[in-house]
Amino acid sequence: MLQLILYLILVFALLFFFIFMSVYGLSMIFSSAMGAPYVPTKNKLANEILKEVKFKKNGLFVELGSGDARIVRTAVKNFGVRGLAVDVNGLLILWSKILKFLDPRLRGDDKLAFETGNILKTDLTKSDYIYLFLFPALIKKLLPKFDKELKKGTIIISHGFEILEYKKKLIKKVPRNTFPTYYYKV
Ligand SMILES: C[S@@+](CC[C@H](N)C(=O)[O-])C[C@H]1O[C@@H](n2cnc3c(N)ncnc32)[C@H](O)[C@@H]1O
Repeated sequence: MLQLILYLILVFALLFFFIFMSVYGLSMIFSSAMGAPYVPTKNKLANEILKEVKFKKNGLFVELGSGDARIVRTAVKNFGVRGLAVDVNGLLILWSKILKFLDPRLRGDDKLAFETGNILKTDLTKSDYIYLFLFPALIKKLLPKFDKELKKGTIIISHGFEILEYKKKLIKKVPRNTFPTYYYKV
């Protein structure tokens, strides 16, 4: 009897593992197909990237293509802003919400919101700060939206990729061993 129970537990564990891996794999393919694969910014860079900006208290920080929302979570926790994490991958948004819940400094804080959806459809009119770690082709698609919706003075932080069309708006470039970070003021 005990053997049968152990056998069933093993079968269910394996089944759960394979289902989870399939859903995870499919969600990663979906992310890539929508414009950028899930490659997180290095955790240890979050504070370094953000400390270059003078944040105003309660300004709205939007991470477009947020993955596990590590940058916007750090911004809300350490830099006094409100945050919005937007990702097309519902699994990553669910994981971000779990990470928020597990963090005593963020749990129950209504300063950090989440949105599952295409960043090309997100309302950006209230943003004060935008964070991107996206492929240039997807950034290019965002530019007409930036031109139309962003308030004057909004800061765009683009990690990894320069926005060539915004050369005149560049205020700072911070080189790093891996990806540089570009800061723009619109
Ligand atoms: C390179 S990762 C960056 C993740 C996170 N910003 C970071 O720096 O750790 C790009 C993210 O963009 C998301 N993404 C790709 N295309 C998208 C789209 N059209 N709308 C919303 N999110 C998208 C992917 O799911 C992925 O999580």
